[in-house]
Amino acid sequence: MARWPRGGGRAPTRRDATLSLHVGHDQRLALHGDLLDFTAEPALDDPTSPGLRWRPDHWLLIENGRIAAVQPEEPDASWPKERHPGRLILPGFIDTHVHSAQIDVLGAWGTELLDWLETHTFPAEARMAEPAHARFISGLFLDGLLATGTTSAMVFPTVHADSVDALFEAADARGMRLIAGKVLMDRHAPEFLRDDVAQAEQDCVELIARWHGHGRLAYAVTPRFAPTSTDAQLAMAGSLMAAHPGLYMQTHVAENRDEVRWVSELFPWSRSYLDVYERFGLLGPRSMLAHGIWLDAEDRARLAATGAMLSHCPSSNLFLGSGLFDWAAARAGGAEVTLGCDVGGGTSLSMLRTLADAYQVQALAGRRVTAWSLLHAATRGAALALGLSHEIGALEPGTLADVVVWDRARSPVERRRQAVARDLHDAIFAWLTLAGDDHVVSTRVAGVERHRRNDRHE
Ligand code: GUN
Ligand code: ZN
Repeated sequence: MARWPRGGGRAPTRRDATLSLHVGHDQRLALHGDLLDFTAEPALDDPTSPGLRWRPDHWLLIENGRIAAVQPEEPDASWPKERHPGRLILPGFIDTHVHSAQIDVLGAWGTELLDWLETHTFPAEARMAEPAHARFISGLFLDGLLATGTTSAMVFPTVHADSVDALFEAADARGMRLIAGKVLMDRHAPEFLRDDVAQAEQDCVELIARWHGHGRLAYAVTPRFAPTSTDAQLAMAGSLMAAHPGLYMQTHVAENRDEVRWVSELFPWSRSYLDVYERFGLLGPRSMLAHGIWLDAEDRARLAATGAMLSHCPSSNLFLGSGLFDWAAARAGGAEVTLGCDVGGGTSLSMLRTLADAYQVQALAGRRVTAWSLLHAATRGAALALGLSHEIGALEPGTLADVVVWDRARSPVERRRQAVARDLHDAIFAWLTLAGDDHVVSTRVAGVERHRRNDRHE
């Protein structure tokens, strides 16, 4: 343990305490701007395909944390108002695959997946054994998501039960929709990061009882990936899924060619990497599998048959040199495709950057994915896949007001680009490609503003 630096933990501050207050209930707010969301899934590569709902110059009425109405008319004087002329208002993004502890290894140079885990990632995750450090990292991580316009996420903390408590506590304090669970790994990891089946099961049962269904939180059984769990641990994970039908499951699959080869050696009886998870009862409509680059047609058919979802993580796939995901084949095979930033394999917490990277990965295969498909996948598409469309993913009355106000342009060059845009798709695609975190003006979670850009120096 002493080999690994401990990192800088800190005690919770007053700011953490004030964040835990759920102001916004019994409150009203009317936001004015250009509203963009979706009512159906657009075709992957046709910008004219239906599904987009574009409501420029509209008012979004928020009451008691929920969207009460959307209307073109200005509401009466009983509604406090915030005007954002020319700005975009979108549902908060949903990131379906990210690792909280890995903000410490963002942009770590020089390795492919398996080396990267050994060299950079496991040491960073080991530091989460210390509860104060886990609390510090969890708060930083979630505030980082909010600052990029992400309001919901499926997250891997670490093998430590305390890291799960820290993450759920921090998400609860911010009112966020978060799905997470203790990482399971009982082999092929450094000794200080390994658990064992009995202890892991007990931790999971306690964590499920404490957090699953608490506020906006849900538990995901989280075997890291097939190589780091024994058959006995994967079987235990499957039995947890069977015993608690509402749980999610998250893991990695078929990300890197060396990893795929290793899985075929470790599980010689398996037809494929995905087959390992299916044999242990881990594929179902609440299962999220990150990557899925090296799947075959039979795997895609199994995803469709079981309802298991993929989280495409283009930034990570490019940075670690893992490969190019075939989105069209996955969709044609009937698999649900969502998107994840996969920090720290990915290089940014931003879903907007993730979308721009997804476009470029598909472009390398000669396919042009539209802004509408990308934005749909990060909002309504993910919400539907996760069974949460009643709560998140669209600017729809009755859903929780997880909404983000975005600048369309910040620099003279971007303003010029917007001014000469040929049509709405051209403008929004250019925005998606060029915008950074500084374009997020305000992020609201259940109506409560959790991030506001500091404009004091402008
Ligand atoms: N496979 C197993 N663990 C990891 C991880 O932490 N990141 C990525 N990208 N792939 C993994
Ligand atoms: Zn990952």
